[in-house]
Amino acid sequence: MDKKLIDFLKELKLYGIEQNIPNVTERGGQFLNMLVKIAKAQSVLEIGCANGYSTIWLAEAVSAIEGKIHAIDHSEPTFKSAKENLDKAGLSDRVDFYFGNALEVIPTINPSDSFDFVFVDGEKRSYWDFWEAILPRLSEGALVVFDDVISFPHKTKPFLEKIKNVPGFDQVILPIDGNDGILLLTRI
Ligand SMILES: C[S@@+](CC[C@H](N)C(=O)[O-])C[C@H]1O[C@@H](n2cnc3c(N)ncnc32)[C@H](O)[C@@H]1O
Repeated sequence: MDKKLIDFLKELKLYGIEQNIPNVTERGGQFLNMLVKIAKAQSVLEIGCANGYSTIWLAEAVSAIEGKIHAIDHSEPTFKSAKENLDKAGLSDRVDFYFGNALEVIPTINPSDSFDFVFVDGEKRSYWDFWEAILPRLSEGALVVFDDVISFPHKTKPFLEKIKNVPGFDQVILPIDGNDGILLLTRI
């Protein structure tokens, strides 16, 4: 990855810590970036882009294959700064931004766009609703990542109880950070 982009990501991460923006960790961003590259995902959906830190990791991953990120958030002013940060990263041509509630936005995204990779980082209590919204839009072999499934057990437990019985997907919880981790699903 470009050294200037790595420096910008480090700067943005520090800013997020100072401003209490719940960005993924650097390792989490690296992991998403690698997964998208391994999957050769062309069409990526992100639910909850905040100020664009994770979006940059995703956008860099699809840039070599001219893929696209559909990034959604319903909170200003972080949404505005996401657009500015993708511009600064030189990756804005890889991202379509949508302002609004993901549950309302997803059905408006071009139905011919199925998603090869979905990163879900919106409100934890809505994880099951997000799942129902994305399920009909997943491509063959799609990967889905739900963030923060360990450190908010009161919010994510009902979702985890339900999703573990969903047929047609392999799934694993990966503790990629000290006190938190992701749920990764792959369509089989
Ligand atoms: C944990 S932050 C996202 C951090 C970002 N993914 C990163 O790592 O840089 C969660 C974001 O999800 C957004 N969000 C929560 N529920 C949402 C929903 N239903 N629709 C759209 N955005 C939502 C919030 O506004 C917030 O900015």
